[in-house]
Amino acid sequence: MDKTKENSRRKFIRKAVTSSAAIAGLPYILTAKDQAIHLKREHKKTSWNDHIQIAVIGAGGMGVADSTTALSVQGVKMVAACDLYTGRLNATKDMWGKDIFTTRDYREILERSDVDAVIIGTPDHWHRQISVDALRKGKGAYCEKPMVHQIEEGTAVVKAQQETGKTFQVGSQGLSSVGNEKAKELYEAGAIGQLIYAEGFWARNSPTGAWQYPIPTDASPKTVDWDRYTSNTTKRDWDPLRFFRWRNYRDYGTGVSGDLFVHLFSSLHFVIGSNGPNKVMATGGLRYWKDGREVPDVLLGMFDYPEAKNHPAFNLSLRVNFVDGTSGTTYLRLVGSEGAMDVTWEDVYLRNNLVSEPLDAFLQNKGKDSHQLLGTRKKMLPPKEVHYTVQKGYKGAHFDHFTNFFGGVRNGDSVVEDAVFGYRAAAPALLCNDSYFDEKIMRWDPINMKVL
Ligand SMILES: NC(=O)c1ccc[n+]([C@@H]2O[C@H](COP(=O)([O-])OP(=O)(O)OC[C@H]3O[C@@H](n4cnc5c(N)ncnc54)[C@H](O)[C@@H]3O)[C@@H](O)[C@H]2O)c1
Repeated sequence: MDKTKENSRRKFIRKAVTSSAAIAGLPYILTAKDQAIHLKREHKKTSWNDHIQIAVIGAGGMGVADSTTALSVQGVKMVAACDLYTGRLNATKDMWGKDIFTTRDYREILERSDVDAVIIGTPDHWHRQISVDALRKGKGAYCEKPMVHQIEEGTAVVKAQQETGKTFQVGSQGLSSVGNEKAKELYEAGAIGQLIYAEGFWARNSPTGAWQYPIPTDASPKTVDWDRYTSNTTKRDWDPLRFFRWRNYRDYGTGVSGDLFVHLFSSLHFVIGSNGPNKVMATGGLRYWKDGREVPDVLLGMFDYPEAKNHPAFNLSLRVNFVDGTSGTTYLRLVGSEGAMDVTWEDVYLRNNLVSEPLDAFLQNKGKDSHQLLGTRKKMLPPKEVHYTVQKGYKGAHFDHFTNFFGGVRNGDSVVEDAVFGYRAAAPALLCNDSYFDEKIMRWDPINMKVL
């Protein structure tokens, strides 16, 4: 692209984004009414033909998967990549062309004026710093879950998003899915009655499922920038396991709760419109994968949700089991007074709980009168189960989540999983680790986002 064209492309995107991005950051400054007036006056749509240029920081498994999805959204182009392992950096050129800019230093990506937005696919211990730096350099940022590695890091990301007004989306893609949207619609329509209890389960039963990833044969301090990798955490001697199997170690990963509970929190919070629990308890153990890892392979979490605008007080129970001989039983279930829902990204199973008599004693007494007249007349029963499933050809939750993100980058549209949402989903997951390792009950203020 020639320079004049490039300048006007950037100006075009910047103009649309600064006007509406300022609005995205307004909640603490303006009232809802003020915002509505602003939105009416300032909101300008750009076309999907004006392309957005992206870069990936952390081009491993998810960084590449995210980039591939991002590039399948209309009008998106890859221009740069950053990684700390030469093998992965070289692979980016094979995938996206030899002309893309590559580096081991993410700050060089953020300095580039041809990058509109970045995908952050690094291990968890780099999420906060790269997200904050990207937003402050004026980039849109799509950061993988969990939004942060330590609970106290969340505020800095929320602040950076609100102060810059830039688009920031956390990568728990499930909540953008048609399955989660259908569940939300059904929940809001009262399909399961009063929410009493929810539960979620994540089951695996294989070495790679349990994070024993292969180590490349050329892995060495020459091909890996180990110093940079550990520059914001404990200094240690080169250890390929800590680089390629980072999830097993607390300096870099967030255990099964940060890796998997966080998806269940995100979907649940989206479906029922919740800010999160106020009490967190976890137990579990390392039962099987005794390969030197520092985190449990079985984790049970229990959470109390206080009454809120969109839901009554209820209990949540979550489990991860990496040694699950039954396997394939991952689910999120919402249980109410009149039914239950199993929610996935592409299906919702709505079940009637088959209560034969009304729970309400008053209604029961009234029923007696009509019984006397009608004797044992039978009633019509609703179906025991209704299965909603997605139409063939659905592009999937990842695609929807990126489309939502790029809507923010282009037009300043609000995104579904911004920093506040992402922090509220990450926090109870991170508190599970604190509860497990410190053997105590953790208290959280989900509205003000503070550990109590
Ligand atoms: N949304 C999902 O469903 C989903 C699925 C898998 C992983 N994830 C998340 O994606 C992130 C990455 O996980 P993964 O499985 O792809 O790990 P991975 O090990 O495959 O990839 C991480 C990459 O980051 C690079 N890296 C490390 N530190 C870096 C730094 N400071 N700057 C640049 N690059 C750096 C590594 O070299 C590696 O290539 C994690 O936060 C994980 O929780 C999300």
